[in-house]
Amino acid sequence: MDRKTIEYSKAQISQVMMPNEANAAGNVHGGEIMKLMDNTAYVVARKHSRCNIVTARVDELEFHHPIYVGELVTCKAHLVFVGRTSMEVHVIVEVEDLTCDASPRVALTAYFTMIALDHDGRPTPVPKLAIETEKEQEDYLRGKERYELHKLRRQDKK
Ligand SMILES: CC(C)(COP(=O)(O)OP(=O)(O)OC[C@H]1O[C@@H](n2cnc3c(N)ncnc32)[C@H](O)[C@@H]1OP(=O)(O)O)[C@@H](O)C(=O)NCCC(=O)NCCS
Repeated sequence: MDRKTIEYSKAQISQVMMPNEANAAGNVHGGEIMKLMDNTAYVVARKHSRCNIVTARVDELEFHHPIYVGELVTCKAHLVFVGRTSMEVHVIVEVEDLTCDASPRVALTAYFTMIALDHDGRPTPVPKLAIETEKEQEDYLRGKERYELHKLRRQDKK
């Protein structure tokens, strides 16, 4: 199976947040943003693997800033690590106030682990990553550490 670069499957989804996605004070619900993040991670995993995808895990989900109705939310996602059938995707959410010229701010970040499934719904192998930069290599090694740690923890639970 050919290797694919991280650049190849990078994805971005933008959306202006609406009142039906927020509470009475105008704060957008965390779950609305998480759905957008999951969708963006799905696009990345689907592009890389060309298979059906499910989300297996979300790590280090952090809400750094509130998001309000009317603001532009942009989810940016890229692959960090690839196992045999699993893909770890880093999702960064930027929020931009469209009433002024202020720069976008990072509002949320998380790592999504996505699993490729075959036509029978079983985990299926995905292409390996072609690492191109030192930063990608550093991130890959950290992703590998998380992957191995989660695997050990799951084995301990059995
Ligand atoms: C994710 C799922 C397919 C894994 O099935 P499984 O029988 O445990 O499969 P395996 O043990 O062969 O693991 C397959 C891969 O998933 C990874 N994986 C399984 N559970 C995981 C977890 N909790 N966290 C991170 N990775 C996980 C394994 O490490 C393995 O990766 P690798 O092939 O790169 O080594 C299964 O647990 C599932 O269907 N979960 C529900 C997913 C879903 O419906 N998501 C949407 C929720 S609404």
